[in-house]
Amino acid sequence: MHIVPIASGKGGVGKSMAAANLSIALAQAGRRVVLADLDLGASNLHLILGVPSPRSGIGTFLTGAGQGGGQASLGAFESVVMETDYPGLRFIPGDAEVPGLANIRAAQKNQLVKRLLSLDADYLVLDLGAGTGSNILDFFLMSARGIVVTAPTLTATLNAYLFLKNAVFRLLYGAFGTRSRAFEYLETLRKDGASLQKAYVPAILDAVKELDPERWQIATSRMASFRPRLLMNLLEDPKDADKALKIRRSCKDYLNIDIEHLGVLYRDELQDIALGSRIPIIRYKPQGILSQGIYRTADKLLQSEDEEDVSLSLAELEGGFRTAELEAEADFGAKMAYVEELLSSGALTTGDLVETVRSQQFEIDKIRRENQFLKHKLSKAIGQGFSG
Ligand SMILES: Nc1ncnc2c1ncn2[C@@H]1O[C@H](COP(=O)(O)OP(=O)(O)O)[C@@H](O)[C@H]1O
Ligand SMILES: [Mg+2]
Repeated sequence: MHIVPIASGKGGVGKSMAAANLSIALAQAGRRVVLADLDLGASNLHLILGVPSPRSGIGTFLTGAGQGGGQASLGAFESVVMETDYPGLRFIPGDAEVPGLANIRAAQKNQLVKRLLSLDADYLVLDLGAGTGSNILDFFLMSARGIVVTAPTLTATLNAYLFLKNAVFRLLYGAFGTRSRAFEYLETLRKDGASLQKAYVPAILDAVKELDPERWQIATSRMASFRPRLLMNLLEDPKDADKALKIRRSCKDYLNIDIEHLGVLYRDELQDIALGSRIPIIRYKPQGILSQGIYRTADKLLQSEDEEDVSLSLAELEGGFRTAELEAEADFGAKMAYVEELLSSGALTTGDLVETVRSQQFEIDKIRRENQFLKHKLSKAIGQGFSG
């Protein structure tokens, strides 16, 4: 079974749109596909697919999992896998009722991974939701060829890069294992946040090669097979496509990984109409620019089918894998370090910076207005409370 996790640092870049439509395209090509909505807490795949509001989903299963209900969970899991209108495509809904993936416990995660892996299908497509929590990273690392979706804006590409950076560190932690010199070295860097931000992966690997050749060997071979794929969505201008090259270059220079450019998808105003009609764009307008991009992307996935896909962290998942929390990695400092990396490499222009400052200013203004509105509501409510 080919596992296709779909992630992004940032929300709203089209992960779910891509997950749903690529799954349909793969099913139309004759593959048996299961699409799972793991964007817990913000599940919306059923809306994109146009299936009726599900009564149960992953959340229902998780409520039973990790509470010692082994057999019960198996039944519970099978009952949440549903058929769709598309021959060959089955769907596992998420659950808006349950807290996000970030909050599920290790035991629940392991149960879920086990059940997902036991599915009988050619493709398992996972919509992972936004963020870089350790659970999201672990699901992403179920395949060496996961997809990161991004948009051409600086914030989106920045978050895509940071997601990949977190994934690489998660992978290194897994390869180093606990109680190794390599692990301790990474921990020392992590505790001194500033030095981790400055430490590029090639330099880390050089240091580890001296310290702990055995772990270095494991890490290097896993890094070599780790080839995530980038999907650039919401393109408006053909020259935006070179944003992908910038991410690729940063990944090569600073993370020591080779990412593949899976392709570009243009912004298509029909997508909103399709979504409003609860019809996937690929069915709504198969000849449209977005659908054609989806088909092209699906073809690339199909072409790489014969490659060996090495699952990276399953052994660790099974073994309980000490979770070194890397969320802090995605913090302000790391972002700033990346901006500096881009500036010094010439990949970032002042025009890009101006655009970002402008869009963030807009977001700040919006939040400020929302705050004022809420304060107004609050004081009114308090006023009414006292008088009533
Ligand atoms: N290529 C595109 N053209 C037009 N609208 C798009 C495109 N891709 C996504 N969208 C729209 O952008 C919004 C966010 O997409 P979604 O798939 O929900 O993002 P995510 O899952 O990353 O949060 C949705 O309203 C979706 O319809
Ligand atoms: Mg989504």
